[in-house]
Amino acid sequence: MLPKGVRSRLLKAAAEARRHAYAPYSGYRVGAALLTEKGHVLSGCNVENASYGLTLCAEQVAVGAALAREGPEMRIRALAVVSRPGIPSPPCGACRQVILEFGEEAVVIFPGPDGLTEARARELLPLGFRLPENGGVKD
Ligand code: THU
Repeated sequence: MLPKGVRSRLLKAAAEARRHAYAPYSGYRVGAALLTEKGHVLSGCNVENASYGLTLCAEQVAVGAALAREGPEMRIRALAVVSRPGIPSPPCGACRQVILEFGEEAVVIFPGPDGLTEARARELLPLGFRLPENGGVKD
């Protein structure tokens, strides 16, 4: 689905970001890197918090970095996730919704139960939430 060069570039960037993870509570470090439609590569790592529910996933941090770089028109072409070697690590449900917002066709690369797996964001989250045209405002 993706050119091999893009895939390995994203996996390398995600592995580098993973080294910066702040995960003192779970000890589970995650890195993510994405390629935007404009061609920029941005990465993120998980950021945990003593108030556990405030934890940010690596994918969400990468999306925030990409938006900070390109602004609200940013679209994701591909996103790779790297966690502990040998352990399946598909993006969580919340991250799927966040990725979908910026690219239904985005190719997501992650360690699945049968090894490195690629799937489109819309395949990972069928029937993802979308606000209606009027933004949900009562008319
Ligand atoms: N985590 C991610 O960074 N991405 C995911 O898609 C799932 C989970 C992080 C959050 C938390 O810091 C740790 O993994 C354990 O749940």
